Amino acid sequence: MKPIKIGLLGLGTVGTGVVRIVEGHSEDLERQTGSSIIVEKVLVQDVSKLRAVPIDPDKMTDQPDDIIRNPEIDVVVEVMGGVEQTKGYILEALEQGKHVVTANKDLMALHGPEILAKAAEKGCDVFYEASVAGGIPIIRTLIEGFSSDRITKIMGIVNGTTNYILSKMSQEGAAYADVLKEAQGLGYAESDPTSDVEGLDAARKMTILSTLGFHSEVALADVKVRGISKVSKEDIQYGKKLGYEVKLLGIAERSDDLISVSVEPTMVKTSHPLASVNGVFNAVYVYGEAVGETMFYGPGAGEMPTATSIVADLVAVVRNMNLGVNGQRGSAPYRVKKLAAAEQ
Ligand code: NAP
Ligand code: HSE
Repeated sequence: MKPIKIGLLGLGTVGTGVVRIVEGHSEDLERQTGSSIIVEKVLVQDVSKLRAVPIDPDKMTDQPDDIIRNPEIDVVVEVMGGVEQTKGYILEALEQGKHVVTANKDLMALHGPEILAKAAEKGCDVFYEASVAGGIPIIRTLIEGFSSDRITKIMGIVNGTTNYILSKMSQEGAAYADVLKEAQGLGYAESDPTSDVEGLDAARKMTILSTLGFHSEVALADVKVRGISKVSKEDIQYGKKLGYEVKLLGIAERSDDLISVSVEPTMVKTSHPLASVNGVFNAVYVYGEAVGETMFYGPGAGEMPTATSIVADLVAVVRNMNLGVNGQRGSAPYRVKKLAAAEQ
């Protein structure tokens, strides 16, 4: 099989992890896909910056066309973040017949249907496992694992930064601002951490999960959102005395023709499994009418867990390329009709 060449948009926390896995696990990846996978070009803002992984300087560029209009590149892996400019890059890459793997929940929550429609038109794959819950393969699970069931509830901790902050405030009595800085230093937070602490990042993830789980286009604007910036140490200690932990919970429910989705700080009974999800870990509870209760747990952010999901998507894309098929995941059949949003 011919080598598959990828163009990486971004070489920050997540992009670095992607390079480490693609290069460090190259033999395993080739065994699984039948192709060697090569990082051909890397787009960054500042080509002169010292990088955490060694990259041939000839591969570094600050010109997006070196990747999105480069006929040598088969797959674009987008780990730069942002919405409008990035959407333009991805649509152009698809126009050029390239497959796309992205970790960008902001983009998929706002423009997922348009991007997936373009991918379907061009016969390309767009996979986005890393956009929700870091290293937990929850998107694959909702689309493939529960395809036979009717899901009525998805609930969980889907933001690592805020769970890290709340856990440290609860367990160590740490100050909110100090722990937020720590989470930023560990590469968990978004470039603007407001979207983490104000619940927007979790709302975007719940938009994606409920769209997939309920086979319906859920709009970000329909999600009721409240973050943790106003949760005090005293609130947390008071909750603990009463037998509760404060968690930023996303809750999505559907009845026959109504969907409600919310993200807010919630008192969770200490006996509930979600109360003991601590640090950067995430957990997603899924209720299906046939299967009943299920729960998925794992690291929700950070370099290597997130890169694991991205490279798993890359493996799926390369397998599809070699079989001459496109993946089913995230394409039109998952968007059936828009159900009404429940009154908040
Ligand atoms: P990051 O550390 O800030 O890295 C962003 C990278 O993209 C940098 O290399 C930056 O270049 C490059 N970049 C940004 N804007 C650019 C532009 N306009 N043109 C060219 N290059 C640009 O971000 P990250 O934490 O890796 O996150 C990347 C994406 O993954 C985001 O969508 C984020 O939401 C998502 N994600 C992150 C995590 C996580 O745990 N961090 C988990 C899941 C998903 P320079 O290096 O030159 O500045
Ligand atoms: N900032 C996000 C979080 C990254 O903390 O969960 C993972 O999506």
